[in-house]
Parts: sequence; structure tokens; C-alpha cells
Amino acid sequence: IRQHKVAVIAGDGVGIEVTASTLDVLRTIQKKVGGFELKFDELDYGSARYKAKGSYAPEGWVEDLRKNDVIFFGAVGDPEVPDHISLWDLILPMRQNFQQYVNVRPSKILPGIPARITNINSHKDLDWLIIRENTEGEYSGQGGRTHKNTPWEIATETSIFTRKGVERCLRFAFEQAQKRPKKFLTVVSKSNAQRYGLVLWDEVAEIVSKDYPDVKWDKMLVDAMTVRMVTKPTSLDTIVTTNLHGDILSDLAAGLSGSIGIAHSLSLDPTRKSPSLFEPVHGAAFDIMGKNLANPIAAIMSSAEMLRWLGEEKAAQIIEKACEKSIEKGQTTGDLGGKLKTTEVTEAVIKLLEDQ
Ligand code: IPM
Ligand code: MN
Repeated sequence: IRQHKVAVIAGDGVGIEVTASTLDVLRTIQKKVGGFELKFDELDYGSARYKAKGSYAPEGWVEDLRKNDVIFFGAVGDPEVPDHISLWDLILPMRQNFQQYVNVRPSKILPGIPARITNINSHKDLDWLIIRENTEGEYSGQGGRTHKNTPWEIATETSIFTRKGVERCLRFAFEQAQKRPKKFLTVVSKSNAQRYGLVLWDEVAEIVSKDYPDVKWDKMLVDAMTVRMVTKPTSLDTIVTTNLHGDILSDLAAGLSGSIGIAHSLSLDPTRKSPSLFEPVHGAAFDIMGKNLANPIAAIMSSAEMLRWLGEEKAAQIIEKACEKSIEKGQTTGDLGGKLKTTEVTEAVIKLLEDQ
């Protein structure tokens, strides 16, 4: 029997609710499919721990997590803790420590989801794979403040782009594009205004592209890219971009394709030296937390990708089908126009996967 060690960080807010749903689904699928066993290590990392003990995670957490094959992450954030603290204590160091250098965010309109824009007529009109650089760039965490709280205060926020970091991300993107039917990649930057890092980005794209002659590709500036995503969605397929631009474009994609409540995310170390992380794109959602209103589908779909990464393809497909069916049947939460609660959607998904 194949054993997989899964670190589970439910975190805060709706992260706790959607993680509970996901664990229910995973326990069901492991019984149904058989042949593998998930060993969950449920960790208390998060804002409650921070408020009680002063840190988001215990000392040595990087090495503790490293012992796992994968990490499932709910969401972290708390109304009483400034975001830059919660994020720089956990999720962002995790991406960097484990060299999860690509963030993969698939986006498509599933049957049953109403089109958000008029030029999308069928769910086939929007099917994108967004690949976001995940360890450097605008999220390098370098900078500082001088002359604090004076009129002369200066704050710097330094983006760092290394040739190695840029190249490995672009290479991954070309490989992904090559595997998809359209074999088409759009490289997004802002190399007109940002003249060092983003010019490097464009130059490396030219070089890397030579190794993938069967992949057609083009370049876009990020501002024009937002327009193209809305007006010509079918002209796009695989998209690769820097950390911050990827953060923004992937939320736009989530909005266009249905709801942030179904957008899922994979932070991968493609070398497999460190554990990869799977999480919903949404955050802790203070406005609806604790109310059983959150859409659990993003988290559940993330866990399907986690199983795929672990080699459990069959289990992954069954979960994805069940999620898609539930949406098609209108068994959804309010964000998708449905009336169900988090736990009711979870039950519906479990029923649909048991029926397959
Ligand atoms: C995301 C989130 C994070 C990001 C935040 C929580 C740091 O918005 O995963 O998209 O900006 O990467
Ligand atoms: Mn984001």
C-alpha cells in the first residue's frame, strides 16, 4: 500500500471550514479507491497560535514540514493581526524555503457556471493555465524604511529577479504549454516600465523558447493583458508571469471563470526535493468566516491536484468529476448562485464521488 505523508495546515477563518470539508473528501476517496493511505499530520499553525504563543509555527517548523510528502494549506489571516505579519510568518517563507518556484493556477468555466462576460458563450471559451513565479520578483521581501514617520520617509520595496529563478519558471511554463492541445504560451511582463528585472524576464523567454520549437508563444505587457483576458479569452491558453502580476492576473481569471470560491492553486517544487503545497486561492475571508457559507470546492479541487502530484491519478479524477457534477447540478454555495452551506456542498460532493 502506497503511503503519503500529508501535513495539514487549516490555518484561520474559512480555511478551517474548507479544510474540514477536504479531509472528509480525502478520507472517503482513500476508502473508495484503495491502494494508498494518506497519513495526515494536522498542525495548529495559524493566527490563534500566534495570539496565544507569539509565533505562527513552532521553532523548527521548516524541518518538521520537510518530513512530509506534501502540504495542504487552508488559509491564514486574522482581523487582529496585520496581514504582512501573518503572511511573512508562514505562507511566503514556506514558498521560499521549499523552493516552490512555480505556482500553477488553472482556470476554466465549468458547465453550470454562468458566463461572466458576454463574449464568452460556452465554457470552452475560457480554459487557461496560469503559471506564476512563486519565490522571488516583487515578493522578495527586500527593502526597508528610513526616516520613519517623518515627511521625508523613504520606503523601498526591491524586486529581485535572478537568471536562474526566471529561467526555471519559464522552462516549466514552456513544458506545460507543450503538454496542452493548443501548445500556446503567453509570457507576461512589464518590460516597458520596469527596465531591469522584467527585461531580463523577456530576454530569458527568448532563449528558453528555442528549446521548445513546437510551442507557439507571444509576449504581453500586463496592463494590455488584462484587456485581452476580458475581450479575447479564447486567444489565450498557457500564461506565465512574475509573482505579483501572477497574483493579480490569477484573481482576475478566477473572477472571469466563475468564483474565487472554486479557484485552486498548486505551489510546486518541480524538482521534488521539498514538499509542494496545495491550497485554495482565496484567503481567510473574515466577512463570512464561521458561518458555514464558504465554498469548499477550491480547497477540494486543490486536494485533487495534491493526489495527482502524489501519483494517485484515479482518485484525483474522481474528486474532480464529483466537484464538476455538483456545480452542474446547482448544488453550490451563494457565490455561485446556490443556496447550500459549506457542509451541504461537501456532502453532495461525497455522495457524487461515492456514486462513480
Ligand atoms: C495568493 C495570496 C497570497 C499571495 C497572499 C495571501 C500573500 O493572495 O496566494 O494569491 O499574494 O500570493
Ligand atoms: Mn492572491
